[in-house]
Amino acid sequence: MHRLFKARIVQTTVLSGSYRLLTLSSEEYIRHCEAGQFFMLQTGSEFLLKRPFSIFSHRGGLLYFLYCIRGKGTKRLSELREGDFIEVLGPLGKAYPKPAGDFIALAGGSGIASIYCLLEDNKGKGHLFYGAKEKGDIVLADSLEKVSKVLTIATEDGSLGVKGNALEALCSKYQGDPPMPIYACGPKQMLMAVSRWALDKGLPCYISLEEHMACGVGACLSCVVETREGLKGICKDGPIFSAGEIIGA
Ligand SMILES: Cc1cc2nc3c(=O)[nH]c(=O)nc-3n(C[C@H](O)[C@H](O)[C@H](O)COP(=O)(O)OP(=O)(O)OC[C@H]3O[C@@H](n4cnc5c(N)ncnc54)[C@H](O)[C@@H]3O)c2cc1C
Ligand code: FES
Repeated sequence: MHRLFKARIVQTTVLSGSYRLLTLSSEEYIRHCEAGQFFMLQTGSEFLLKRPFSIFSHRGGLLYFLYCIRGKGTKRLSELREGDFIEVLGPLGKAYPKPAGDFIALAGGSGIASIYCLLEDNKGKGHLFYGAKEKGDIVLADSLEKVSKVLTIATEDGSLGVKGNALEALCSKYQGDPPMPIYACGPKQMLMAVSRWALDKGLPCYISLEEHMACGVGACLSCVVETREGLKGICKDGPIFSAGEIIGA
């Protein structure tokens, strides 16, 4: 059940590139969060619409969000300071199905936020492939190493880890069929490509579609996606979908 509440900013941390980590304190709602769910954050009082952000971590009564500064909302969010209060709506959306054993996690860019949460909640079980454009866009590698079973980093310019994108790194590692389900979050193109790859191999694959949203609660239809069962709202029916559900995969 989601709630609208005010949370206090406990910490704001500048990471590399345009990435920031936001730590919020609140009471009971944090206990009921699961990896894959998201919150709508009021990034500034001048904005009519809140912005959606996946849960990066939920521990010790705190909520963590990892975000990339993209436009005016995230820029404004980055200007908020410790002690400020922020209006928050959530937790929203469906969570990732709980992995039974080892799993493959694929993250591109800011998609690492929801994948980190999955890895942390299932510590030592995830074989992570994490890709970004360049070294400066790879964040929290040390923390990722601690929560993953195996960490493979890929950068498009080859400045850190293997050269190429995360999916290329995954495909080159597993030329046969990896006997594990796949969980992915990142750019839509990457999600569609990994869905096709997994479907082709008959592997379960869950993707988090982080598309544009307005209300976050199923009221405005701004986030609909075409599925094999008709149109679905990413905010209510997702953001986690099975690979085979989405048209185009
Ligand atoms: C369920 C969900 C979870 C998300 N989780 C995270 C997260 O954990 N960390 C994070 O950094 N971002 C996340 N996002 C994306 C984040 O919501 C947007 O980056 C943010 O709303 C941009 O707001 P803005 O006002 O700064 O940008 P705007 O001024 O609205 O837009 C700036 C630019 O960013 C592009 N943009 C805006 N939203 C998106 C989007 N959803 N996908 C791709 N491009 C976009 C716009 O097209 C435009 O080019 C998530 C989105 C969804 C739907
Ligand atoms: S964002 Fe309004 S219906 Fe999904």
